[in-house]
Amino acid sequence: MRALLTTAPGGWPNTSISNVESRLGQPNQVLVKVTAVGLNPADNFQIEGRYPGGPKPPFIVGRDACGVVLKGDAGGQWKPGDAVIALQSTTTDLEHGTLCEEQWIAAENLARKPTGWSDLEAAAAPLVYQTAWKALVDVGGLQPGQTVVVTGASGGVGLASVQLARAYGATVVALSRSTEKQNRLRTAGAHHVFSPETDHLKDKIFDAVKAKGVDVVVETVGGPILATSLHLLGVHGRISVVGVLAGVESNISIPALMFKRASIHGVLVTDDVPAKSQAAWTQIVELMTTAEIRPIVDAHFPLEKSSDAFEKLRGNVFGKVVVQVSN
Ligand SMILES: NC(=O)c1ccc[n+]([C@@H]2O[C@H](COP(=O)([O-])OP(=O)(O)OC[C@H]3O[C@@H](n4cnc5c(N)ncnc54)[C@H](OP(=O)(O)O)[C@@H]3O)[C@@H](O)[C@H]2O)c1
Repeated sequence: MRALLTTAPGGWPNTSISNVESRLGQPNQVLVKVTAVGLNPADNFQIEGRYPGGPKPPFIVGRDACGVVLKGDAGGQWKPGDAVIALQSTTTDLEHGTLCEEQWIAAENLARKPTGWSDLEAAAAPLVYQTAWKALVDVGGLQPGQTVVVTGASGGVGLASVQLARAYGATVVALSRSTEKQNRLRTAGAHHVFSPETDHLKDKIFDAVKAKGVDVVVETVGGPILATSLHLLGVHGRISVVGVLAGVESNISIPALMFKRASIHGVLVTDDVPAKSQAAWTQIVELMTTAEIRPIVDAHFPLEKSSDAFEKLRGNVFGKVVVQVSN
């Protein structure tokens, strides 16, 4: 079968569409014909060998997936023809990568494709919505009526956070550097939108939300934005740290942390055991169904154009980039 395979360290020169021998699955696994795969920055970091504790080549790239069951598990949970998505919490290897025509996936890591979603939408969802949910609710302790700031709001995790926080009943402030994406963020559910580079950002956000601080920041950007996020918090505010696209270090104000009795928590979506992922996913889909929201797919590419899809991911995104593996 065809797969996007990284054969050696060194990034893209050692990553290409290759033929990989199909393997035999275990009784608790399900053979899935992969139809579409949502890309995440972590997939790119793994190809480039920049992911802490990342996979050793050779590995099949990709973690999210949507597909159709070809062969069910021995326990009978899944049957041929079931439309599924993968919720697997693992870094990739030959046995877990999803950018391939077929993969054996543990029955406990599959969920039913939500009703009415296209394969591209379903493939775009698992990692980013689970991360957003964890950052907002699990770690962030968000309550309806509270105020949320989302940094990097136009990205995969950012947009998922904007949509889920709005559906959850929060007041949502989205940050994006692009004027065009700021307009699209309003349509996607943000109540207020700013550039992170705005002069007197804190005062403008406090004016907009009519409060002297926000309850939760979903921080997907990292670097200096973490220090800004701390200044945006109100007393007992929480920052959920998700990403490091703008840098891996930040100088934060210890007095601000202390006097606000604030918390800064790291979020790692791969923490969850399958039962917890499934429980979160059920709540996510219920919320999205009630609010009539869907994952936002910015662009999609066929499997043989996977490197173009990754180039798009590294560039200018609004939502998700998806690789269509088959129809
Ligand atoms: N901890 C976890 O479990 C977990 C899970 C998923 C993802 N992540 C990480 O979270 C981060 C975001 O993931 P994603 O999928 O949302 O990424 P993404 O889709 O590539 O989007 C990130 C957004 O961040 C903004 N951005 C990018 N570089 C920036 C910079 N230098 N300064 C300021 N803003 C910048 C951009 O928004 P604008 O252009 O609109 O400003 C972009 O749309 C990545 O580091 C990813 O690895 C972590």
